[in-house]
Parts: sequence; C-alpha cells; structure tokens
Amino acid sequence: MHHKTQVGIVGAGPAGLMLGHLLHLNGIDSVIVENRSREYVIDRVRAGVLEQGTVDLLHAMGVGARLRQEGLRHDGVFISFLEQRHHINFGELTGGKAITVYGQNEVVKDLIEARIATSRPLYFEADHVSVDALDSSSPVIRFRHGDVDHELQCDVIAGCDGFHGVCRPSVPAGVLTMYERVYPFGWLGILAEAAPSCDELVYTLHERGFALFSMRSPTITRLYLQVPPDEPIERWSDEAIWQEMLTRMATRDGWKPSVGRIVQKSVTPMRSFVATPMRYGRLFLAGDAAHIVPPTGAKGLNLAASDVLVLARALKAFYENGQTEWLDTYSDVCLRRVWKAQRFSWWMTSTLHRAPDESAFDHQRQIADLDYLTSSRAAMTSLAEQYVGLPAEVSFESAGL
Ligand code: FAD
Ligand code: PHB
Repeated sequence: MHHKTQVGIVGAGPAGLMLGHLLHLNGIDSVIVENRSREYVIDRVRAGVLEQGTVDLLHAMGVGARLRQEGLRHDGVFISFLEQRHHINFGELTGGKAITVYGQNEVVKDLIEARIATSRPLYFEADHVSVDALDSSSPVIRFRHGDVDHELQCDVIAGCDGFHGVCRPSVPAGVLTMYERVYPFGWLGILAEAAPSCDELVYTLHERGFALFSMRSPTITRLYLQVPPDEPIERWSDEAIWQEMLTRMATRDGWKPSVGRIVQKSVTPMRSFVATPMRYGRLFLAGDAAHIVPPTGAKGLNLAASDVLVLARALKAFYENGQTEWLDTYSDVCLRRVWKAQRFSWWMTSTLHRAPDESAFDHQRQIADLDYLTSSRAAMTSLAEQYVGLPAEVSFESAGL
C-alpha cells in the first residue's frame, strides 16, 4: 500500500505523540508509526516529574484535563545526607514555579486519546519499520501492519523512536558526532501500594549508595535504589528491597517510606548520550532518539517535550510560508537546552551516587557539595531553577498555540 503524508512520525512515545498533536493543531497532516502495542506503550512505567513548562505546554495543547485533576503539584524537594533531610523550596526561590508528579504513562494515555479523537492515523504493532531516502525531498517510511506492506512518502520524517529506534542508525556513518558517558551503576525501581509518607520527593546520598523517594498517586509510592548496572532483578526479594530502602532513606527525625506490596520492579542502566546534529537531510531526531540523560535530574521526558515544541514551530513556518530557516536552526536551538540538561543531570548523578572507584576524598567532596547546596541560598536557587526547568527556547505562540 502506497500513501503520502506531510510529516511521518516514527514512535508513539511522548515525543511522537506530542509532535503529532502540535501539528494537528496547526492543520498539518501526520502519520504515527509505532512498533509496540497500545497496551504496552501505556503500561510502560517510566518518568514521573513534569517541569512547569511541560505542564504549561500540555495545557496549551488542550490535553491537560486529567493532569489538572490528578497531577500532584510539588513546591519543593528534599535532599538527604548524613541521615538528615534538607528542604529546597522551589516556590520561594523561583518566583512561584513548581513541578508536577504525573506518570509518563498517564501523559501517553492522554495523548493517545487526543490522537484518536482527531481521526488521524496512528499505527500500533507496525513490524519491520525502516526509513529511506532521507537526503531527498520525499523521504519514505516502510513498515508492515497486519498482512499489508506500507510505503509512506513524507515531506519530512520525525525520528521520535527513542534510544533503541531505527532512525538514528539510518543516518550514514560519519554524519553524526556522538558524545557518551556510561555510569557504573543503575537504578532498581519499584512501585508499591503504600501511601506516600512525604508530600515531596526525597533524594538521598547514603554510605551504601543513592536512594530516591517519589510517588505516583495518593496511594502509590515510587522508590529507586542505586545498584550495579547489570544487577539481575531476581537477586532482590521484596524483603531485601524494603530492608535496603529503609536503611538508606530513614532519617534521624524518624521519617521513613511507608512499606506496602510491591507491584512492579525493574533495573535500568544509566547513561548520558548526545548525537549531533539532531538532523540529517529531511530526518529530524527528537527526544531519546537524539539524547539520553541519567534519570537523576528528571529531565528526559521534559527534553522530549521541548524538542518537539521547537520542531513544531519550524514545521509550521515551513508549511505556512516555505520558510526553512527554523528547520535549519532546529538542532542548534534544541542542543543549547539539551547540553544544559546534560550538565545538570550529570551533576545530580555524580553528587548523589557512590562510584565503585571513588576515593575517600571524592566522598568527602560530595558531602561538602551537598552541605553547600543545602546551606547557600544561591546554590539552592541554582538547583531550583534547573529542576523546575530553564525557560523555553521558543514561545508557545510561535508554535501556533
Ligand atoms: P520513548 O518514550 O522511548 O518513545 C519512543 C517510542 O518509539 C516508543 O514507544 C517505542 O516503542 C517506539 N519505537 C522504538 N523503536 C521503534 C521502531 N523501530 N519503529 C517504531 N517505533 C519504535 N524523564 C523525566 O523527564 N522525568 C523523570 O522523572 C524520568 N524518570 C525516568 C525513570 C526511568 C526509570 C526511566 C527509564 C526514564 C526516565 N525518564 C524521565 C526518561 C523518559 O522516560 C524518556 O526521556 C522519555 O520516554 C523520552 O520520550 P521519547 O518519546 O523521546 O522516547
Ligand atoms: C519518578 O518519580 O519516577 C522519578 C522522580 C525523579 C527522578 C526520576 C524519576 O529524578
């Protein structure tokens, strides 16, 4: 089957679905091609923290109704070390900004519903997805859906297919420069049926390593633990997980996470990665397809959102008056924000984790870093403004909102 569209989008994660909706709001056609099932994409447990700007963007796109009702607004965060929690107040330090805890899978669910309501095409369970003719004026996406082979001719392809997708590897060798740092640890994450015992997130550096207290709802706690990167999850019984969580997180004021039934557990490795430029010919990479951050700064999903806002602005100008300038600057505009988020995520990660090869000096320096952070208003302000999200590179209006 041969068909045509304006923008072919590979991947129905947050980047692909948000881009599809931004294009729809500007009257631009798109087809989204996803290799997993709808259920798989919705059930995948991942990010939880939305920056102020991401929340504002979802509202401006008209997909924020459930987020407004169910999202948990947090005006600060705790940093814990030497068994003491220290509060960083975002509202006070940033002039009223906040973050919102709302699961990535809920964002994806809302965006899929919005897409289906537009009646624009979204193929789940597409097999053998490939992209071709990227340096021509009509690049192609090929895939098999059910028993039918599809060839989709596009003006532009948006590679929103995540770190392990097909778009980035389809760029000819030598075109992209890759920057990478792989960390010698990973996160064991759990979802537990337990009411969160604190209203805000708690990032902990303990002698035995990093731990993070987060949540998903008034009845579900989300917790993470630093473990070796290739740690088999089977090695951790539920009892062992709780014992380690409580050992690392409990503070001298008597605070600790509430224990409950563990309903999901997995281990994620951690890396920093950037591919530049985020474009080859008529292929534009967005989100995890172009860059990965370690989750400690909670930036990955938010970077996906800011990339597609910049791309939507460029595509609107391209279709409205044939302007290519913003397509040409897409990568540079995105990368300014991406590198700042990389630096922040690397800093949060290296300050809060224990590296296997660290020296006693390194550990004392980490403690001093955290002591300075939690006692200096200037340092807290710096963390707060980065955590709630640096200002967007482009306005919502320029993307047709
Ligand atoms: P993805 O979500 O990876 O979506 C890509 C889509 O493309 C997927 O649906 C995939 O199935 C599809 N795809 C892949 N290959 C193909 C193919 N060949 N053909 C068609 N489709 C394909 N970020 C935050 O901002 N805050 C957080 O708190 C946070 N916490 C995290 C915690 C964990 C444990 C993890 C793992 C990540 C976390 N992140 C966080 C990162 C965040 O989840 C990602 O940055 C985000 O998912 C990126 O969105 P994306 O749309 O670019 O990519
Ligand atoms: C989460 O709630 O999943 C979460 C929160 C903060 C992070 C990473 C993940 O830094």
